Amino acid sequence: MKSVRKAVLPVAGFGTRVLPGTKTTPKELLNVVDRPILSYIVEEGRAAGIEHFIFVTGRGKGAIEDYFDHNVELEAALEAKGKTDLLEALRAELPNPGEMSFVRQMAPLGLGHAVWCARDIVGDEPFAVMLPDMVMSAQVPALAQAIEAYDQKGGNIVVVEPCPRARPISTASSPWTAARAASTG
Ligand code: UTP
Repeated sequence: MKSVRKAVLPVAGFGTRVLPGTKTTPKELLNVVDRPILSYIVEEGRAAGIEHFIFVTGRGKGAIEDYFDHNVELEAALEAKGKTDLLEALRAELPNPGEMSFVRQMAPLGLGHAVWCARDIVGDEPFAVMLPDMVMSAQVPALAQAIEAYDQKGGNIVVVEPCPRARPISTASSPWTAARAASTG
């Protein structure tokens, strides 16, 4: 049985739950503490043995591809100012050559459709789907647990977490969250 070494990361959704920030910034690049949530997800994938990340992107999501590329002007400016710590931190996040692929979902037709858009790049091998808008805290990261379960049992492994019946979203007071609560009933 082949091991899981590819991960599909759908990043083409509108992110309506976290408007207005996502009007101009992809949800997956919103900062959690000091770096984008996507950075944590890729870190978790690498730690679990993922060698190839396949991003399913869409319109307005170009910043995601840029995030995983050199920013030549910025790096030159940091170098000139001797800010080597920052420079090294930036470069440490860059992918190895060929480690990332990007495929376009031309309309946000749902998560299943996004994963389907990656079918040719995945090919005939087991793969993980990582939702890059959620971080899970666990001593052994969720993906590593899922891959271990797959290695032992095969089949399709779904990672879930307990969720309270009443979502706090319905009690939120901002106009944005109130509008969301109204639109979702
Ligand atoms: P979500 O349903 O959480 O993302 O899907 P969304 O559509 O952006 O959410 P709303 O608008 O806040 O409800 C989980 C992941 O799947 C991607 C999203 O970008 C997110 O990372 N996704 C969702 C796609 O790539 N394509 C889609 O058509 C829908």
